[in-house]
Amino acid sequence: MQGSSWELFDRVAADYDEVVPFFASFGTAIIAAIDPPPGCAFLDLGAGRGALTAPALARGCRVTAVDAAPGMVRELSAAFPAAEAYTMDAQALTFADGTFDVVASSFAIHILDDPAAGVAEAYRVLRPGGRFAFTGGSSRSRGGPAVSGEDELGVRLNELFGEFTAYLPPNGSMGTPVDAADLLDEAGFVDLREDFAEVAIPFPDTGALWRWSLTHGYRAFIEDLPDDRRAEFHERVLALAARDLVLRRVSGVWSGRKPSPAQILSCQS
Ligand SMILES: C[S@@+](CC[C@H](N)C(=O)[O-])C[C@H]1O[C@@H](n2cnc3c(N)ncnc32)[C@H](O)[C@@H]1O
Repeated sequence: MQGSSWELFDRVAADYDEVVPFFASFGTAIIAAIDPPPGCAFLDLGAGRGALTAPALARGCRVTAVDAAPGMVRELSAAFPAAEAYTMDAQALTFADGTFDVVASSFAIHILDDPAAGVAEAYRVLRPGGRFAFTGGSSRSRGGPAVSGEDELGVRLNELFGEFTAYLPPNGSMGTPVDAADLLDEAGFVDLREDFAEVAIPFPDTGALWRWSLTHGYRAFIEDLPDDRRAEFHERVLALAARDLVLRRVSGVWSGRKPSPAQILSCQS
């Protein structure tokens, strides 16, 4: 994967989450886990087409959404005119300190060039006492509800990706595992917690699974495979056999609270 990850998302913006509502379904589950109060000033960081924006608006939050991919911001603005949407780098936000009550980011922090910079910016733009929550790429987890057996589609898909990782060039694919708890801790967040969000997404057939794979981060993996291995990978996805064609996924929703000034002073003394 050359360049920053948002460039791929800009290319796929028109098709993103259109084959099946994978990210939108996760967004609804993540917002249920975060439970932002109606009326709060809510920032959706790396918003894509608005997986978190939609359920946050539905709860009555005042939503600002940012993404580095202009195509994503165009799609989000068209679908959710009630949100304020900006093309902006999550690692260098132009908002003033303490602007938001809640900052949330689904499946974006681990694909930033510098995940710690994104978390530091979330901390800066939160008001004291506000909470930042994010999903994606965490190497540390309590595990959450077990939704996968060995004949599950998600397990079979993971096995296939695992097998073909050997054919990627150095630095191929997208994203690096992050330790969510360490990232939150190092930025200064307190009261860390891990909640869970889960989805079960039915696919009509394995052709749809392949088309879906080309509309988000998996595409970086597929494009980085050598031509012959890509063709083989395609055939293997189409031939995947599982108990059913339902993709069950669980994600940790890591969050932390920005301490109030009094708490910061007592920590320093
Ligand atoms: C996997 S998508 C997730 C989008 C959305 N949060 C969702 O759950 O559907 C990752 C998003 O992060 C965005 N992104 C990547 N790098 C970024 C950056 N430096 N600043 C802001 N957004 C970025 C991409 O453009 C993409 O829309």
